[in-house]
Amino acid sequence: MKEIKKWKEKVEPINLNEDEETILNQMGLKGSTRRKFLKQVTAASLSICASNYFSSEVFANSIHKLPDNAGVLMNEIKLKLRVNDLVKPLTIDSRTSLLDALREHLILTGTKKGCDHGQCGACTVIIDGKRHLSCLTLAATCENKAITTIEGLAKDGKMHPMQEAFLKHDGFQCGYCTPGQICSAVALLEEAKNGDASFVTDNLKQMQRNLKLSEEEIRERMSGNICRCGAYNNIVQAFKQVHSGNAEMPTWQFATKEQMEKAKGA
Ligand code: FES
Ligand code: FES
Repeated sequence: MKEIKKWKEKVEPINLNEDEETILNQMGLKGSTRRKFLKQVTAASLSICASNYFSSEVFANSIHKLPDNAGVLMNEIKLKLRVNDLVKPLTIDSRTSLLDALREHLILTGTKKGCDHGQCGACTVIIDGKRHLSCLTLAATCENKAITTIEGLAKDGKMHPMQEAFLKHDGFQCGYCTPGQICSAVALLEEAKNGDASFVTDNLKQMQRNLKLSEEEIRERMSGNICRCGAYNNIVQAFKQVHSGNAEMPTWQFATKEQMEKAKGA
C-alpha cells in the first residue's frame, strides 16, 4: 500500500494556479522538494484548524468542571457605604469601582456607565460635597464618606432645583448623560460658593467666595460632562437659572399655529 501511495504522489500532479507556480518557482521549489513543502504547509494548516476545535472543546469542558465555590469572591472585603443618607453593608471584590458597586450591588442604576475610563462624566456622583467620577473611584475608599447619587437629590418628593431647571430648559434629549450633568452642576454650585478656581479663572491670587460664574466659566467647569445629544446650550441655561436665582427664559419655544401652518405649506 505504501508503495502505491508513493507512486500516486509521484504521478498525480498537484493543481496549482499560475501565481502559486510562480511563487514556488521563485522559491526554487521543484519536484520532490516542492511536494514535501506543500505537504508540510497542508499539515500546518490542518493543525491550526484542529487546535481551534480542540481548545474550544477543552474550554467548554472546563466550564462544566468549575468548582462549586466558583462564585466566591477572590479579594473579598466587607464595607459599609453611606449612599443618599442610608448606610448599606456590602461584600464586594476589593477592586470594585464605586460605579459598579452602585449599579450592580446596590441597584442604583441612575448613575450611568458611559466610557468606564474617566472621559465622559456620565458616572459623576457627589462624594462629601465634591463631584467625582465613580468609574475611577474604588468603592473601598468611600467608607465613612457621604455619597449622593441622582436618586438622592430629590427631597420629600420634591425635585432638586437643578432637576427642575433641567426640565424647564429642556437640558437633555436621550437623558443618558443627564444624571451625571445634574450631579456635576449641583456640586459646581458649591464650588462657586467656596470660590474654587478653574482653568479660566483670571486672577488666582484674588480668589473670593460666592463667585458669579460667567457663561464661559460654566462651560469650562462643566466640560468634563459630555453630551452626545448636544444639549449644552440648554444645560448652561438651566445652570444659570439656579446659580443666579433669576428665572431665565428658555432659549426654545413651541412653534405657533401660524408657524406650523407655514411649515406645512412650504
Ligand atoms: S463612565 Fe465614568 S467618566 Fe465615563
Ligand atoms: S442628553 Fe443624550 S447624551 Fe446628553
